Amino acid sequence: MSVSQLSQTVEEQPFFNVIQDRRSVRSYDPNVKISQEEMNEILQQAALAPSGANLQPWRFLVIDSQELKQKLYPIAFNQQQVIEASAVIAVLGDLEGYKLAEKIYGMAVDAGYMPAETAKSFVERYQGLFASMPPETVLQKVSIDGGLVSMQLMLVARAKGYDTVPMGGFDQAKFSEAFDIPERYAPIMLIAIGKAANPGHPTLRLPVEDIAYFNEMPKE
Ligand SMILES: Cc1cc2nc3c(=O)[nH]c(=O)nc-3n(C[C@H](O)[C@H](O)[C@H](O)COP(=O)(O)O)c2cc1C
Repeated sequence: MSVSQLSQTVEEQPFFNVIQDRRSVRSYDPNVKISQEEMNEILQQAALAPSGANLQPWRFLVIDSQELKQKLYPIAFNQQQVIEASAVIAVLGDLEGYKLAEKIYGMAVDAGYMPAETAKSFVERYQGLFASMPPETVLQKVSIDGGLVSMQLMLVARAKGYDTVPMGGFDQAKFSEAFDIPERYAPIMLIAIGKAANPGHPTLRLPVEDIAYFNEMPKE
């Protein structure tokens, strides 16, 4: 299914309603199930997020079996949404994502977006660059991309009438062990997704004058 076909299946909601209505929801209707087909649509739309060199190093482990959610519950410090939500999506960063550069740039060539020679030089450059980077730099890069795709996922979910909460509160090492995650994939975030049983608490944001400066940062 193409991206434009996918977008037709998405419930239309004005973008600003989507961003203003999104709240972290921590209480879910446990009877709501999101089908694999719909979850794939959400993920496909989320993956339109930008990423460094378009390497798309995000991977998703969708945990929607009740048994596995129970297993995750203590690892996520007994957060109730893990049990009640339709699914918990683990957003992982592929530390070897550059290995897919050839496929990604090959697709661009096939689509006529780029000459084969240009694609080849990009692939060589990125593979060389990533292979020589210290692991903590690679982790930082995939974490940035993972954050962007997570945000997009939460907005897509809201646009389709679902609610989410991002969760950094989980034991990453225990998660990787319990779910047999190969070392190549770094857990970045968990996102509970489903339909709210109770709305999220209202939250406030700092005024723009506290967070934004033009041309010069304050001295302290
Ligand atoms: C990186 C990150 C980690 C978070 N971890 C948790 C968490 O473990 N549990 C939780 O209930 N909320 C968690 N949150 C949600 C925040 O508490 C929430 O986004 C914030 O209070 C603003 O509220 P809002 O999302 O409703 O606008 C996390 C949010 C982010 C961005």
